[in-house]
Amino acid sequence: MKRFLLSVALVLPMLKSLNAQQHTTADSIREKMQWFADAKLGIFIHWGIYSVNGVDESWSFHNRKISYTDYMQQLKGFTAKNYHPEEWAALIKESGARYAVMTTKHHDGVALWDSKLSKLDIANSTPAKRDVLTPLYNALRQQGIKAGAYFSLIDWSYPDYPQFLKDSSRYDAKKDPARWQRFLNFYEGQLKEVMQQYNPDLWWFDGDWEHSAEEWEAVKIRKMLTGHNPNTIINGRLQAYGDYDTPEQNFPVSRPHYNWWELCMTINNNWGYHPDDTNFKTPYEVITIFADAVSNGGNMLLDIGPAEDGTIPAEEVNVLKELGAWNKKHAPAIFNTVAGIPAGHFYGPTTLSKDSTTLYLFLAGNVNGQVMVKGLVNNIKKISVSGNGQQLTHKVVGKISWSAVPGLVYIDVPANVQDKYMTVLALELDGKIKLYRGKGGFLTNE
Ligand code: GLC
Repeated sequence: MKRFLLSVALVLPMLKSLNAQQHTTADSIREKMQWFADAKLGIFIHWGIYSVNGVDESWSFHNRKISYTDYMQQLKGFTAKNYHPEEWAALIKESGARYAVMTTKHHDGVALWDSKLSKLDIANSTPAKRDVLTPLYNALRQQGIKAGAYFSLIDWSYPDYPQFLKDSSRYDAKKDPARWQRFLNFYEGQLKEVMQQYNPDLWWFDGDWEHSAEEWEAVKIRKMLTGHNPNTIINGRLQAYGDYDTPEQNFPVSRPHYNWWELCMTINNNWGYHPDDTNFKTPYEVITIFADAVSNGGNMLLDIGPAEDGTIPAEEVNVLKELGAWNKKHAPAIFNTVAGIPAGHFYGPTTLSKDSTTLYLFLAGNVNGQVMVKGLVNNIKKISVSGNGQQLTHKVVGKISWSAVPGLVYIDVPANVQDKYMTVLALELDGKIKLYRGKGGFLTNE
C-alpha cells in the first residue's frame, strides 16, 4: 500500500530488483537453496516501535504523516512486557512454516538487538531494555525453524545517511563520498553484529532501491555474509546480488521463471501492528493464495505484526492456526513438492511429488460432483483424498481408440470428503507424469 505513496521514479529500480539472480548462477546455489524450495511457508514478523501508536513502520514519518519527533517518542512506549518468544515460535511451528524472518532493523534505524554502534536500539532506548532477538532466534531454532533476519539497508535516522523525509534529503552520496563512507562503515558494522550474534539462515534485505549495487557495496556484503556462512540465503533485494526473488503483495498471474521466489504478503493491509486496519484476509483467502504460490513453484512469506507488548493480534493467530491445521492435513501435497503442471490441464493449483509420479490437485471452493484433468497421458493407479485416504473413482471420457491423444479424466468427488477450505486429491500415476500439450490433432505431436 505504501508503495503507492512512492514516486514513480522509485518504481523502475524496484522492478529491476526482480532479477535477483542476475549475478549468481542457479547451479552454484542450488544445493543451499534446497531447504528453501522445500519449505514453502515462512512467517514474516514486523515488530518495532511503530507498534506503540500503531502507525506505518518507518514510512509514517518519512511520508510526513507524523513528525520524526513524535515517531521517535514511541521508543518510550515499547515495553515487550508480554513478549513470549517461545509462544511465537510454537505458533509459527503450528502454522506449518519452516522459516521465520524477523525485522532486526527497519528503515527507521531502530535496532532490535543490543547494538554497540548505536544507541538507537530497543535494549538501550526503550523500557523493554533488552535484546529481543536472542530469545526469539533460540526459540525458533529449538523448534527446528530456520531463522531469517530482515535488515533494512536504508537507515533514515542515521545522520550520515543521505535520505530522510520524502521531500528532504541530507546530502547527495555521490557528491560527498567521505560522508557516505561513514554510513557504509556503520551499516556494515551493524550487519556484522547481526551476522556474528545470530548467524541467520536467511538474510532479507530491504530498501535497495535508494542506492546502486556499487553504493551499497553489494559484492562485498554478499562475500562477507557467505564467507561467514556459505549456506546462508540472501533475498533478491541486494540490487541483483541475491539468491531469489521477492514479489511483494502482488500475486504473479503467469508463472515466474525465476528459479526461486517468495511472495511476501500481509494478513491485513499493513506489515506492522495497525489496530485501525481490520481488513484481514480470511483463512480461505490465505490458503488459496498459498496453494497458488506453491503450485507455481514459489513460497509464501506471511506477515504478522505484534503489538508493542509482544501480543500477536487474535485475527492473525487465527489465520496461522487455520492455515496450520490445513497444512498438517495436506502436508505431503505441499511440503517437499515441486511446482505443478502448467495451466490448462486443470482448473486450479497443482503440485507434484519430487519424483513426478504423484500429482496433487487442489480444489477451490465446494466441488459438487466431478473435477476434470486434461491431457494426462499416464494411467492412474489410485486416486485418494488427502488427509483422509478415501479412494475415489474416475472415468476417462472421450478417448478415441485410434488417437494417441489422451481422454479427459473425470474424478467423482463426493460431498462428504470436502475440506472446509481446499480439498486436495492425490493421483498416483503409473510412472513419471507425461502430458499431452497439443492442439487436439490426432497425433500427439500436434
Ligand atoms: C517494503 C516496505 C517495508 C516493508 C517491506 C516488506 O519494502 O518498505 O515497509 O517492511 O516492504 O516486504
